[in-house]
Amino acid sequence: MPPFVPPSGYHRIRVVASFAELVATPLADGVNAVCWARELPGDFDAIARHFAPDQDRRTIDDDELQELATEPALQLAIETLLADQRHLRELGHRPQLDCLRDYPRDADAVLPTDVYSFHQDSATVPTETFLCSYTGAASEGLRNDEAIPQVELPPVRARLLTEFGGDDDADFAAWLREHHYDLHHAMRPGAQPFSFGLGNLWRLAVRYPGCPVPACIHRAPDTAPLRPPRLLLIS
Ligand SMILES: [Fe+2]
Repeated sequence: MPPFVPPSGYHRIRVVASFAELVATPLADGVNAVCWARELPGDFDAIARHFAPDQDRRTIDDDELQELATEPALQLAIETLLADQRHLRELGHRPQLDCLRDYPRDADAVLPTDVYSFHQDSATVPTETFLCSYTGAASEGLRNDEAIPQVELPPVRARLLTEFGGDDDADFAAWLREHHYDLHHAMRPGAQPFSFGLGNLWRLAVRYPGCPVPACIHRAPDTAPLRPPRLLLIS
């Protein structure tokens, strides 16, 4: 897999070469994503196959990885999986390693707010999201200048207003926030989503009160109907 190259002319992504740089690069001055671009040695696919759930997802803990490390072919990959989580824990984060085939979907919602929809993560306090896809399909990003909030699309807003059952006022705006509708985005005409790539560890800006940059817009890749197991670190 070639090293990650940001979309041409897009200024919000910084590509770095170490974990130290990943966490030292400010999510400020317009930058809302930092990518530690890596080509990882090791058989991550074998690990994904080993832990693959029949459906949905499961979390893998360190002990389960350690047990598997008796197989030499897997050791390199397992060392990386453990080291990535250790680095994040040392900074006070709570990383989770998942093996998954699918996430819950909001098929019947007025506006789907599942992770297959382009969205910004949000929090009430300053924080950030870390993300790494090791196998399967990688998470996808959407340039902020190629995105439009779903709630600004007249047909979507009209549907939501009907669901809300009131006027387009401050209460409606609060209701949109409460249901996370305001975080979801559509692609502008001509938009070209990009792949985060396999093996790259990303640090993404999250929407919180006072965040100095617009949060990074991303989604889970929809791999239906085949759904090969994805090995994913998220924090
Ligand atoms: Fe997210």
